[in-house]
Amino acid sequence: MRKKVTIVGAGNVGATAAHWIAAKELADVVLIDVIEGVPQGKALDLSQAMPIEKRDCSIVGTNDYADTANSDIVVITAGIARKPGMSRDDLLNTNFKIMSEVVEKVVKASPNTILIIVSNPLDAMAQTAFKKAGLPRERVIGMAGVLDSARFRTFIAEELKVSVENVTAFVLGGHGDTMVPLSRYSTMAGIPITELIEPTRLKELETRTANGGAEIVKHLKTGSAYYAPSAAAVEMVEAILKDKKKILPCAAYLQGEYGISGLYVGVPCKLGAKGLEQIIEIKLTAEEQTALNKSAEAVRELCTVIGVA
Ligand code: NAI
Ligand code: 2OP
Repeated sequence: MRKKVTIVGAGNVGATAAHWIAAKELADVVLIDVIEGVPQGKALDLSQAMPIEKRDCSIVGTNDYADTANSDIVVITAGIARKPGMSRDDLLNTNFKIMSEVVEKVVKASPNTILIIVSNPLDAMAQTAFKKAGLPRERVIGMAGVLDSARFRTFIAEELKVSVENVTAFVLGGHGDTMVPLSRYSTMAGIPITELIEPTRLKELETRTANGGAEIVKHLKTGSAYYAPSAAAVEMVEAILKDKKKILPCAAYLQGEYGISGLYVGVPCKLGAKGLEQIIEIKLTAEEQTALNKSAEAVRELCTVIGVA
């Protein structure tokens, strides 16, 4: 039997995630949204691409959570997105209400599912989902680090004029301006980039990474990025469905790791069939730890505002 992935929110990120999942033939997909017609139309359109792409995936659009029952994974992208001049944090109260309502319905229909949270502000929304779902932390994971590190990898590969495949990068912390791109642990074919790019230029690439979302909002004007965000969420879906034990930077509920407790923050995670299978603790310099603590405090402030700290 094929695996089943539900995507809540049939907007830019959600529909494009459905596209990547179907293109990779990872699972059957249920696309659900509050707007009537949109998930149905997009699902029908995408399913008619399957004969051309030679993929056997059922793609269903719906407004009814009964259709999402027994999903192996639910990716939550429901909510409003940024417009120019808005920060991710400006979405807080609206998306808190949406996330709370969606999680309750999702978990009722699929009590054994693994949740991948995408809606912003990411870490606070992952914390909301965790508190509302009543699932173990292994089954509520936030997507941000895969996207942020992919942005960093893109900029590093462009700078060094090498294949993106040769570049690995780590970005820790919350998905916001205080995120912590870790150049020391970023490499080109195993060589630390700190040996290949001079510090001032490296700082510029780190800053561009931290502002990567805003750079795209500025171009698009009517919304935010969705190709790379959806690809990032689907990399997590694939790691779980295929039990890959893949190390990816994800937002996870920390219980003392990195000296932080009771909070979702981006850290290196091992993803496999059980969801979050391990948090990898790496040694940070005092400066990196201070930056991570500052980022965690920014997340905690948002969680306090919505009462999920
Ligand atoms: P979008 O506006 O294109 O789509 C959002 C969809 O959610 C809409 O179709 C809307 O009808 C739906 N929706 C709203 N309330 C709902 C509810 N109660 N139940 C079901 N569906 C509901 O926005 P887009 O671009 O797809 O972004 C979605 C979210 O993901 C935003 O909050 C955005 O900030 C966030 N995001 C997060 C990223 C990350 O790295 N974690 C990266 C990119 C986007
Ligand atoms: C991004 O980083 C808006 O969080 C979204 O593109």
